[in-house]
Amino acid sequence: MGMVGHISRYWQDIRNKALGHGQLAGGRSEFITALTKATRMLVQSGILALGAYLAIYQEITPGTMIAASILAGRALAPVDMAVGNWKNFIRARQAYHRLSKTLTQKRSLSQPVQLPEPKGHLTINAVSKLTDSAAGEQRPILQGINFSLNPGEALGVIGPSASGKSSLAKLLVGLWMPDKGSIRLDGASYDQWDRDQLGQYIGYLPQSVELIAGTIKENIARFDPEVTDDEIIAAAQLAGVHELILKLPDGYATDLGSGHYILSGGQAQRIALARAVLRVPPLVVLDEPNANLDSEGDAALTRTIEQLKEQGSTIVVMAHRPSAIAAVGKILMLNDGLQVEFGPKEEVLSKVTRVVTNPPLSAAQQTA
Ligand SMILES: Nc1ncnc2c1ncn2[C@@H]1O[C@H](COP(=O)(O)OP(=O)(O)OP(=O)(O)O)[C@@H](O)[C@H]1O
Ligand SMILES: [Mg+2]
Repeated sequence: MGMVGHISRYWQDIRNKALGHGQLAGGRSEFITALTKATRMLVQSGILALGAYLAIYQEITPGTMIAASILAGRALAPVDMAVGNWKNFIRARQAYHRLSKTLTQKRSLSQPVQLPEPKGHLTINAVSKLTDSAAGEQRPILQGINFSLNPGEALGVIGPSASGKSSLAKLLVGLWMPDKGSIRLDGASYDQWDRDQLGQYIGYLPQSVELIAGTIKENIARFDPEVTDDEIIAAAQLAGVHELILKLPDGYATDLGSGHYILSGGQAQRIALARAVLRVPPLVVLDEPNANLDSEGDAALTRTIEQLKEQGSTIVVMAHRPSAIAAVGKILMLNDGLQVEFGPKEEVLSKVTRVVTNPPLSAAQQTA
């Protein structure tokens, strides 16, 4: 887009600034090092001079003078070292603060109890999430979210961009912890679970799909060597990608890390869906699962959600395009981080469309 020149100049500017700062910092540190060195030498010379004076007047022996000089050298060396290593000291202190903060935030139990496999009862009670305080002023991303779902229910989360849909998804899968309120799966909040154990019971398709370097088989198996081929194929069939994978040059063994075969956006999204539904987890969260899909992919997605419902999973789908919520029974509408509506799909959609169609139609809409 003709940005090479501009970006180069922009980068050059930043680099020049960095170089300037580097030079300034170098100058200062050199000044401080030279100052401490000069002081040390002065002190040492002073001790030697005093020793010489006292030795001449036979107050001390010349040996004491030499000993005093050596002792002074030893005593002052740590000061030099402290100045030289001050940077490391500051870094260690910062790292300590960061670690303490992280550790106090994650009040994970040292030995969580192995809870039984959840059924998929999801309860969200007065959940709020704020932005990170490290990034400046805190502002709410989500506020007062309240709903609950039973196994076999599917919820569609709709709302404009930046309304907090993806943030809710991250909270529901335990990537983020709520600042207020609680999220419970079968009655237990996420910090009561062993992280790895909980992960098995959750399927998550993030908005920006990341497949990991490895084969398609390994990716769908979540890199767990204990997952059998039957389970992998069942997940692929549930996600409707079995045929698509067979068409690839090496089928399930296609190596995504080698660069021999690059998946398209839609292919990657559908394979990530298979990874999300591996072993039919009790809770499945799909964030914009149809963002890259064609109509065939859309239909496959609707079938997947229907089948997950039949098998008793609780499903939450974040969506912009209505085709993704074809199979859901309930709708949660977000706006600016607030819960605007929650209820059965028809009820919420009729309310929402009434609001949308109330303003006079634009010329384009009228002709349409
Ligand atoms: N890691 C983060 N740290 C701070 N703020 C964040 C972070 N992620 C998202 N936000 C903020 O949270 C708000 C909601 O973002 P979110 O990604 O949940 O929106 P969304 O509804 O999924 O939008 P879209 O439809 O575009 O995907 C935005 O204002 C965004 O700036
Ligand atoms: Mg999003």
